[in-house]
Amino acid sequence: MIQPYRIKSVAPIKVSTTEERRRWIEEVGLNPFRLASEQVMIDLLTDSGTAAMSEDQWAELIRADEAYAGSKSWLLLEETARELFGFPYVLPAHQGRSAEFALFGAKLEPGQLVPSNIHFDTTAAHIAYRGARPLDLVVEDVYRLTEPLPFKGNMDLDKLASLLKEQGEKVGMVTMVLTCNSGGGQPASFANIKAVSELCRKHGVPFWIDAARIAENAYFIRRDEEGMQGYSVGEIVRMIMDQADGMWMSMKKDALANMGALICCRHREDFEAISQLVILIDGYVTYGGMSGRDMAAAAVGLREAQDHDYLAHRIGQVERMVERLSGAGVPVIRPAGGHAVYIDARGFMPHLPAEKFPGWALAIHGYIAGGVRSIEIGPVLKGRDPETGENRLDIPDLVRLAIPRRVYTQDQLDYVCEVFVELRERAVELCGVEFEWEAPRLRHFTSRFRWAGRAEAGA
Ligand SMILES: Cc1ncc(COP(=O)(O)O)c(C=O)c1O
Repeated sequence: MIQPYRIKSVAPIKVSTTEERRRWIEEVGLNPFRLASEQVMIDLLTDSGTAAMSEDQWAELIRADEAYAGSKSWLLLEETARELFGFPYVLPAHQGRSAEFALFGAKLEPGQLVPSNIHFDTTAAHIAYRGARPLDLVVEDVYRLTEPLPFKGNMDLDKLASLLKEQGEKVGMVTMVLTCNSGGGQPASFANIKAVSELCRKHGVPFWIDAARIAENAYFIRRDEEGMQGYSVGEIVRMIMDQADGMWMSMKKDALANMGALICCRHREDFEAISQLVILIDGYVTYGGMSGRDMAAAAVGLREAQDHDYLAHRIGQVERMVERLSGAGVPVIRPAGGHAVYIDARGFMPHLPAEKFPGWALAIHGYIAGGVRSIEIGPVLKGRDPETGENRLDIPDLVRLAIPRRVYTQDQLDYVCEVFVELRERAVELCGVEFEWEAPRLRHFTSRFRWAGRAEAGA
């Protein structure tokens, strides 16, 4: 699939040298979050809020209405969400986690259980903040990192059925994250989503969808699930939403927006209860912490993100990187997910013990070697076990290369592959890292590290 858009406005990249990058990253304690974006050549830190906007989004942004109440940009966003997702009630929030605060504040009681495929970190944190317990019931296939099995984001239906049977009265709601970000951006199938919905109805438990990457999930269903090729991406999105009582969505992903979120629901009581918390935290129910300009851009972006050619190109970009890297012997999660490439750092540098945080170290080596900013999704991000105080080294140690939407060209992404293929060829020379200063919470954002080994082996 060719890139189905042409570039109209460009942001220059400052080309830097290996020596400059080594100095910059050492100055900030080997932590990619602390780099200035101008020190980065290809920024794959996140796909969230980093999309390039279209000419139609910019045009709508100029027309945006900044009225406190009843802004026409809100009415456009509300009408678009109703049409695309089919829920009668729509609420705004400034980003996904504030939608989670309002939703769980209204819907959960302390002590309740909330199963999902794999909760995203902010979601799990908000459920816990409410005094409830998040549970991950994803299929085991997701942990077979390099085996290209389909729909690794599915819920394990047997585990969900027995939980609902044994402790159904304690379950506050069931959610599904589509696509499953913490499971490598892998999708769930429509059959699986429908089966989860049926189980929820049977047990009288609400079913909600974390729809941050719903268009990408629908694209995978259309492409890979038997019997689904006759439907458009938009039709599949509606069919998924028809299974649920409600959804929330960080619009920083599949609304091609730089900020914003939505909560949509079917029942008036939910709408009223959630509205109270939106007002408390995010502002009135016709802006929810967004400017009129944010809402205008998102209203247009929600529709553009469901375009089949755009999705075929975007997911094709990720797929091509996965094929190039795995063809060159770089261990990556397979099949390709929707929004990122994940490198298995322990497989990449088997000489490094888990205690030397190979995932964190590989992200730093990738930056020094090629100016590519990526991030570890592994033990550093996960933090210490609250009971034992030990690092959780029993989880996969991955480097995530998240692909911003409509931002990088194929030759730039080919360059990223070359950087990691070249590093792989001299992986035995690469050293690990250790903490110099460990932040007490959410440690990945601000901690400082030092080389655990020869500094000159850094790149
Ligand atoms: C699946 C999922 N849910 C929720 C969120 C939280 O959204 P936000 O970053 O807008 O607060 C994210 C963010 O990455 C996400 O990926």
